[in-house]
Amino acid sequence: MARWYYYPGEETNVLEKVRNRIFRKPVPDFPKTVLIETQFGCNAGCVFCQYPQLKDDLPRGRMTTATFEKIAKECAGRGVERFILALDNEPLMDGSITEKFEALRKHCPEAKRNLTTNGSLFTQQKVEELIGSGVVNEVFLSINGYTKEVYEDLMKLPFERSMKSLQVFTDYLRAHPDIRKNLDVAVKVVKTRRVAPEIQQMREKWEKGEGFRFLTLDMDNRGDQLDMGKESTLAADQGDMKPNVTCRRPFHTMVLTWEGQAVICCVDYMREVKLGNVHEQSVYEIWNGPWATKLRREYLNKQFENLKPCQTCKINN
Ligand SMILES: C[S@@+](CC[C@H](N)C(=O)[O-])C[C@H]1O[C@@H](n2cnc3c(N)ncnc32)[C@H](O)[C@@H]1O
Ligand code: SF4
Repeated sequence: MARWYYYPGEETNVLEKVRNRIFRKPVPDFPKTVLIETQFGCNAGCVFCQYPQLKDDLPRGRMTTATFEKIAKECAGRGVERFILALDNEPLMDGSITEKFEALRKHCPEAKRNLTTNGSLFTQQKVEELIGSGVVNEVFLSINGYTKEVYEDLMKLPFERSMKSLQVFTDYLRAHPDIRKNLDVAVKVVKTRRVAPEIQQMREKWEKGEGFRFLTLDMDNRGDQLDMGKESTLAADQGDMKPNVTCRRPFHTMVLTWEGQAVICCVDYMREVKLGNVHEQSVYEIWNGPWATKLRREYLNKQFENLKPCQTCKINN
């Protein structure tokens, strides 16, 4: 079980100190995961995702490669374990995504450079640029459905086209076992009622057939920014969702929108809890600043007044 966090030096008695040393871990002074939305926009419309519901209300644009490189440089040697270049967007739509992964490889070669994608926009050229070159060393494919009917109902993407695109990726890996052996690939499916009957077939196809890891994700209500009264309720395990009060995301992950805005969590797509902006401060300053620290302390004390998405965040685990 993942351990809860504490701020060192804030214990009021010996028992607390002992408990923290054994069962908890200190809040790191630099994020372990950095998640960056390099560009607004997605080509899909997953019913469980907030993107299709919020897309018209949000600012559109792309992070410049110069800003991205500034972030990558600052993260060099700071112990970041994983970079994920996606928030609620589709990274393969960013024409400069390869350059951005390249900047990560240059400055943070030891980190996982993760491409989380719906996999519907792979081309031979993109696969060679991203996978063949080794700039990406971890791929998470978000696939929801085994049959055309379920896949299209859930993701609103044309099934045949997506499967063809995914095949470009899998064919490439088959033809390049040397690259395959250094690449971690996982297929992730969000647990919904709609997809549940197809999970076994999906597992057979992706785990047994392709040798990828196959993972089911607990569905969350995206900090209540998802209107569960809409179509998503048909798919979601809404009734089974419970408040998510032991979330670890704000303690290990820095989330940056394409404008360089750091927000509390990857579900905070409305930018409701802003921590700072990389155009004005460094990642270190934002992460350790008085505001971010205060919010984390409040979370640990279960005070959610300043943490709007956390107040109502629910998950179906
Ligand atoms: C928001 S997407 C962005 C990247 C890319 N477009 C994709 O789908 O992989 C990142 C991940 O969040 C997952 N996701 C979306 N809505 C979710 C929800 N309500 N609960 C849990 N995971 C969700 C997606 O399935 C995907 O694996
Ligand atoms: S889960 Fe990913 S693919 Fe689906 S709508 Fe959200 S951002 Fe797009």
